[in-house]
Amino acid sequence: MSEETAPYGSGTPAAAPGPAPARRVRTHHLREMKERGDKITMLTAYDMYTAATFDEAGIDLLLVGDSASNNVLGNETSLPITVDELLPLTRAVAGAARRAMVVGDLPFGSYQASPEQGYLTAVRFMKEAGAHCVKLEGGVEMVPVIEKLTRGGIPVMAHIGFTPQSEHALGGYRVQGRGETADRVRRDALAVQEAGAFAVVMEMVPGDVAAEISAELAIPTIGIGAGAGCDGQVLVWQDAFGLRTGRMARFVKQYADVHSVLLEGARAYAADVKGGTFPAPEHTF
Ligand code: KIV
Repeated sequence: MSEETAPYGSGTPAAAPGPAPARRVRTHHLREMKERGDKITMLTAYDMYTAATFDEAGIDLLLVGDSASNNVLGNETSLPITVDELLPLTRAVAGAARRAMVVGDLPFGSYQASPEQGYLTAVRFMKEAGAHCVKLEGGVEMVPVIEKLTRGGIPVMAHIGFTPQSEHALGGYRVQGRGETADRVRRDALAVQEAGAFAVVMEMVPGDVAAEISAELAIPTIGIGAGAGCDGQVLVWQDAFGLRTGRMARFVKQYADVHSVLLEGARAYAADVKGGTFPAPEHTF
C-alpha cells in the first residue's frame, strides 16, 4: 500500500498523544485489494453504534443505504426515502467510522434528472454528512452522471444488475443477467468503469456471469446475491445479524440472532418492572 501523509491543516498534530489513528480505507486500497485477491467487506449501517461496531470489526466499507427506507423508516420499498432523511443517518455513520470508507447512497429521484442534479445531491452527502463517496444505481444510462461526479472530485460506486430503485420498472425483485441479458449487465459494468466509477455493486446476478465480469473489470465488484466470484460482498446488517425476521432472500446468510437477544432482554426488563425488582436499591439515588 502507498504512503499517506497528513494534508495541511488536517487537524491532526504530528505527535498527538494516544493510539495512532486507524488508516482510512481509500479507493486505491480497494483496487490494491482486488489486485492481491483480498476480498472486500461491506455492510450497511445507519447509526453511530452499529457503525462503530462494524468499523471495530474491520469492515472495509459502510454503506448508508437507501435501504434505510425499509430497514429504519418502515417503508415498503427504498423509493420513498429522501435526501433530507438520509443525510443525518450518513452523518452519524461518518462520525463513528474511524477506518471504514463511508458510502452515501443517493436516493431515488435525487440524481436521475441530470448530471447537475446528481452532482449537487452528491455534494450534500460529502459536505453536510461527511460521506467519503457516493453510490448510485444504473449502468450505461448513468454514464453522464458518473462522469460529472468523478470529474468534480466525488468518488462514485455504481450499482448494476437488480437495482431496487427501479423495482417497478423491472417487474419486482428478479435476477438480472440470465441468458441473453448477461451481455447487458456486462455492458453496464464496462460503461460505469469507463465513466470513472471506482467500484461497482452487482445485485442478483448469476454467479458465473458476475465472476466473468469481475475478472474482466479492473475496478472491484461488490456482490449481493452475485456469488463468490465478486471481489467483495455486501449485506444489509438487519438481515445478516437477524434483527429482521421472516422470509429472507436466498443470498442472505444469518450470522447472529439480534432479534432474539433484544426480545429476551425486553421481556426480562418488563418482568422486573412489573414484579417490582427493578429498580433495585443499587439503581436508586
Ligand atoms: O441500499 C442498500 O442497502 C443497497 C445494498 C443492497 C447494496 O443498495
